[in-house]
Amino acid sequence: MVTAGPTREPVDPVRYMSNRSSGKMGYAIAEAARDAGADVILLSGPVNLRRPVGIEVIDIETAEDLYRTTHANIDDVDLFIAAAAVADYRPAHIADKKIKKSESEMTINLVRNRDTLATVSALEKRPFCVGFAAETDEVAAYAKNKLENKKLDMIVANKVGDGVGFDSDDNTVEVFWGSGSKRFPTETKSSLAIQLVRLIAQRFAVASVGESASTATK
Ligand code: CTP
Repeated sequence: MVTAGPTREPVDPVRYMSNRSSGKMGYAIAEAARDAGADVILLSGPVNLRRPVGIEVIDIETAEDLYRTTHANIDDVDLFIAAAAVADYRPAHIADKKIKKSESEMTINLVRNRDTLATVSALEKRPFCVGFAAETDEVAAYAKNKLENKKLDMIVANKVGDGVGFDSDDNTVEVFWGSGSKRFPTETKSSLAIQLVRLIAQRFAVASVGESASTATK
């Protein structure tokens, strides 16, 4: 299962809060996983990308949609790759009519969204979990924190901002896991996705061998 694209958090019937994710990296990973022989379910936020052939796509809009749809479909998933740029907060109230301008300043109260990746990783029967960390600074340190805090198997970190990372066809990433890391040179997202899927499959195989060995010794 792969998540991709941004989420949209409605403010009123004509407005929403979102982010700059194009979905290109997540779609490229879903396609690379399909080409490697996986049965892929892609949970996609609103993007302007062609629907990939041979992949089950489920459209989601908000972070809460993503949470519910993921957990409704997670049972038989072996590998969960969370490339979606999920809004951490949503407006506390969605106005049912268009909000009219009045004062020179206005405040919108926000509440935290549930964390899909962290809750999947906390499941008793959990898939191998790969997260993404898009950071403007201290990329490695923040990514390693997320790897640990969300108890992930791997995290793919990339630098964003100043025209880098978002909506581009290229990306530069570094991947971290418990015992190692690997830096990839700048590549097209589709070529990078093939290499990422290869690395994820290798680590997944190592984890699966470790797990069956520990089950055998119990
Ligand atoms: N993620 C998720 N559900 C959320 C938030 C994030 O599944 N509600 C996933 C993303 O898909 C990504 C990873 O968690 O794989 C990103 O972690 P997160 O801590 O949310 O990153 P940021 O939002 O950038 O966090 P911060 O603002 O703390 O840097």
